[in-house]
Amino acid sequence: MVRRYLVAANWKMNMTVSQALPFAAQLATLTGGEAAEIAVAPPFVALSAVGQALHSSGVVLAAQNCHAASAGAYTGEVSVPMLADVGCRYIIVGHSERRQLLGETDSLVNEKAKAVLAAGLSPILCIGETLEEREQGKTLEIISWQLQAGLAGIPNEVRVVIAYEPIWAIGTGKTATAAQAQEVHAHIRGQLRKQWKEGAERVRILYGGSVKADNAEELMSQADIDGALVGGASLQFEAFAAIIEAAKKAAGRKK
Ligand code: 13P
Repeated sequence: MVRRYLVAANWKMNMTVSQALPFAAQLATLTGGEAAEIAVAPPFVALSAVGQALHSSGVVLAAQNCHAASAGAYTGEVSVPMLADVGCRYIIVGHSERRQLLGETDSLVNEKAKAVLAAGLSPILCIGETLEEREQGKTLEIISWQLQAGLAGIPNEVRVVIAYEPIWAIGTGKTATAAQAQEVHAHIRGQLRKQWKEGAERVRILYGGSVKADNAEELMSQADIDGALVGGASLQFEAFAAIIEAAKKAAGRKK
């Protein structure tokens, strides 16, 4: 089955609104065509301005996080309806930086994913093992657990995106090899089949972790890699544009 790629930029805690605006104007020129959908996840404060800059472009807006409740006394938090209102189509949930630095648990991530779906948006559910877990041969077990817990009670695949981001590959310059990534992606798809039967074939499974112009095509050419979640390289226009071009080439190879 041919799945349209999703190439998503995760800016993390980078870019002021003043820096984001001219950058978003450049990003608005990007087109992924039939091969790839392009999404950009700026920090919350820049969402509205970046959303306006991307309006009627081929690039959609995403958020990096959300709260599971739709409104209420949660000082400092941002709800899914607020994110929908500024035009977000995707929301990243369970990024490893939030799990590791801010103590997010699998059950909290599951609540967030459900809240995103309930509002009609798409969660990008992040999962991934640490270096220690990989060295102990526990990668597939950890992935299975995070997937099962993250998707608990979600009855069908519609709109769910998974991002496999090995923690040891994030921001380190060490990418998983295409074969290492494909092994985990195939495992993820196998587990999704148990939960959602043939619906699993429609789910996009993105790879994240030091994706760059020079490794993106090989990674996305793998059978179960359906796009990329890009951190560092998404902060430079040429580097991100080259990853979109790599997605187009990889899609051409899969036809
Ligand atoms: P890098 O591309 O900087 O390794 O970050 C990956 C990531 O965490 C995207 O969510």
